[in-house]
Amino acid sequence: MSEPLRVLVTGAAGQIAYSLVIAIARGEVFGTNQPLDLLLLDIKPMEGVLNGVVMELQDCALPLLNSVTPTCDESVAFKDIDVACLVGSMPRREGMERKDLLAANVKIFKTQGNSLHQYAKKTVKVVVVGNPANTNAMICSKYAPSIPKENFSCLTRLDQNRAQSQIASRVGVKVADVRNVIIWGNHSSTQFPDISQAQVKVQDKLKDVRSAVQDDSWLNNEFISTVQKRGAAVIAARKLSSAMSAAKAICDHLRDWWFGTESGTFTSMGVISDGSYGIEAGLVYSFPVEIAADRTYKIVQGINIDNFAREKMDATKNELIEERDLAISVCED
Ligand code: NAD
Ligand code: LMR
Repeated sequence: MSEPLRVLVTGAAGQIAYSLVIAIARGEVFGTNQPLDLLLLDIKPMEGVLNGVVMELQDCALPLLNSVTPTCDESVAFKDIDVACLVGSMPRREGMERKDLLAANVKIFKTQGNSLHQYAKKTVKVVVVGNPANTNAMICSKYAPSIPKENFSCLTRLDQNRAQSQIASRVGVKVADVRNVIIWGNHSSTQFPDISQAQVKVQDKLKDVRSAVQDDSWLNNEFISTVQKRGAAVIAARKLSSAMSAAKAICDHLRDWWFGTESGTFTSMGVISDGSYGIEAGLVYSFPVEIAADRTYKIVQGINIDNFAREKMDATKNELIEERDLAISVCED
């Protein structure tokens, strides 16, 4: 067995963390031979609940769990960590857009960027989940200048999973038989779920999604808006934001980052733009990426962008520019 990996989950007393920590601790992300030191951060008023989560982890008798450290102190939580799952922040309530959360949440990511800079390993891999996730990730990296920009990401895998699942049920295949759906842009209702590169396996043959679905109107309209508005639909139904599916998506995101994507496939994550596809450099924008075994990723190049896609990719980019400007002004206050 190797040395324990130090994995931080923030918002550890919250909804998403309740599904996430058990999945990580069972080895579903870093493998069943990888021991773990779990660091669990939440705020002081949640200390009692956090201790309850720790009791339950103990009661799970998990062989991979070398240690669990609950804390409300960032200097303890971020110390020498290898992986940071930054979940802790306020969730959206019914009727709110993710943008409405910006003023409330962005300062958390300024502070935690600072803590990453001061305490974490320089190789730390960061996934930001707390909304608005893209802009929070951008702010976090800005305040962690000693950590390479490419170590920061935000979660759009939930959107990818939603899109994949919609396609699978429309075609009548298993979700595992759908691949290479792309999520471009912001984890918000302006995101662009794009099936232009996606394929489905039907009776052991790969088909492009358009020919398998045979309904362009559904693909160009209802499919896109269902994925864009799925977060709001879950909130309306549960009166709480998605948690189980978000935790599963965080696991998928981190597992792919840790072990790499399969040859011929890619995955979407929010990463710092290098200017690819005309997206302003420095924004955290969701792109299709291929991840190598050494945990480096490359934005997939050469995808043909038609007018339909261009318009949608620019709309979500423009929303991110607005969010960035607002976030920078909030952080400088
Ligand atoms: P929750 O309210 O159940 O839990 C959030 C936890 O974060 C709470 O325990 C709270 O005390 C804690 N917290 C607040 N400030 C903190 C800080 N400074 N440091 C550490 N912990 C802090 O919310 P949830 O349902 O778990 O959702 C968490 C976030 O994830 C929300 O912002 C939600 O909108 C977002 N989310 C993102 C995605 C995505 O795909 N990117 C999906 C679902 C939810
Ligand atoms: C989601 O997509 O389910 C989350 O980001 C929660 C939300 O506010 O939509």
